[in-house]
Amino acid sequence: MVQNMNYRKCIVEAVNGNRSVIGNDVHRLRYHLMPPAGLLNDPNGLIHFKGVYHVFFQWNPFGTKHGRKSWGHYVSQNLTDWTLEEAALVPDEWYDKDGCYSGSAVEHEGKMYLFFTGNVKNERNERSTYQCLAVSDDGMNFEKKGPVLNLPEGYTPHFRDPKVWKEGSRWLMVLGAQNVSGQGEAVLAQSSDLEEWEFLGPVAGSNINGLGNFGYMWECPDLFRLDGEDVLIVCPQGLEAKGDFYQNLYQAGYFTGSFDAGKVSFEHGTFAELDRGFDFYAPQTMQDDTGRRIMVGWMGMTDDREQSHPTLSSNWIHALTLPRVLGVKAGKIIQKPVPELETLRGAETRYELNMHPSEICTETVSPASEIAVNFDESLKNGFEMEIRKDIRIVFENGKFTVERDTFDKTGREQRAVELECLDKLQIYLDHSSAEIFVNAGEEVFTCRFFPDAENNDISIGVSEKHTVEFCQWPLERESIRLY
Ligand code: FRU
Repeated sequence: MVQNMNYRKCIVEAVNGNRSVIGNDVHRLRYHLMPPAGLLNDPNGLIHFKGVYHVFFQWNPFGTKHGRKSWGHYVSQNLTDWTLEEAALVPDEWYDKDGCYSGSAVEHEGKMYLFFTGNVKNERNERSTYQCLAVSDDGMNFEKKGPVLNLPEGYTPHFRDPKVWKEGSRWLMVLGAQNVSGQGEAVLAQSSDLEEWEFLGPVAGSNINGLGNFGYMWECPDLFRLDGEDVLIVCPQGLEAKGDFYQNLYQAGYFTGSFDAGKVSFEHGTFAELDRGFDFYAPQTMQDDTGRRIMVGWMGMTDDREQSHPTLSSNWIHALTLPRVLGVKAGKIIQKPVPELETLRGAETRYELNMHPSEICTETVSPASEIAVNFDESLKNGFEMEIRKDIRIVFENGKFTVERDTFDKTGREQRAVELECLDKLQIYLDHSSAEIFVNAGEEVFTCRFFPDAENNDISIGVSEKHTVEFCQWPLERESIRLY
């Protein structure tokens, strides 16, 4: 069907056909970007262009598996109210016939330039990769210009995800790559006009800069300067779990250090995970007109038991995180939800709880809500919280742990981080997602979860006498418009 009809028209039909199904799904998110049908993965092309925020996303509108990807497209004036636009890029050229894969956007002389990876497979399922350009005057209609950078020697076709930015008078592109020895790298290319690109070489990677073995492939790199540090965000695949680290199937994290474009080098420290939860991958950042560095991630993970998500029966899977403002403090990235989200708040409920050990306080919350928990003094130990009889948070003996039901409901699983003390929590719940900001963004746990729709209780307990402030705001406004 899809081959014989106009591709974009088929997408609109797929979305319309799924409208009532998704509308009745108890797990549907109300203020997070999700696909109106099918599978969503990486955020792409984040840009603040002529006063409008654009978030594109990897999208298979025709099924809940990773098929041929298009670029879905959401726009917003304020980072809270989003409208779904027609798909920006669809896989309809020889160089992207099996998917318009991840990439980025920049503005140049009033035009929007999208860079993406054209994914092509032959009859033997062998992959070719092309780094491609599409240009737009209005940010809505895109003209594909074709490949601008071919696969350099020394690399396998796992070479993708161009992120472009301007440095002085030239344009730079960082890409995720695998070299022919099977090592993951972040590599650099440069251009003076955005159309012709020259490959420069690796800036960081497995067995580079004394890093040791660090994964067989690096995906979705992003390189920028923030608060006096150069930051390389990257998603290495193939790291082995070590204690509380690298527990997810693939990792999303960063290095800070010193980038030298002239020498094509990046001296950096150790790798740190960006998010300590279960569902966070392929983040991308943009700098908006106010100068803020804003990050959006994918609340999901490729190949990680995706077929157990209960939303498959409503023909959709995955969502994006809230936009988060980044800062760097003592070499560590701090993440805060954008303050614009406060405009979604409904009536506030605020309690001062004078809590005693072994007492449990329970509140009923809205399934779409923001929750703040503030302690009278830094807690060194002894806090627990249960959310909708599914997520359990425990702070004990210097460790902050988040536990949830597995998606197939056959067991429990957990993620944890060492934490000196606990001052505050800010939690965004949206029916089947929780983003838990610990100590004003020092750590974040992003989790999908699929609790019973009837159970909306949150309970908290402390192991020593404390005054605990508990605030709740229902986030009432449905802030996503699907066409
Ligand atoms: C990351 C990723 C990217 C690729 C895209 C394809 O999740 O594998 O490397 O461009 O997804 O959808």
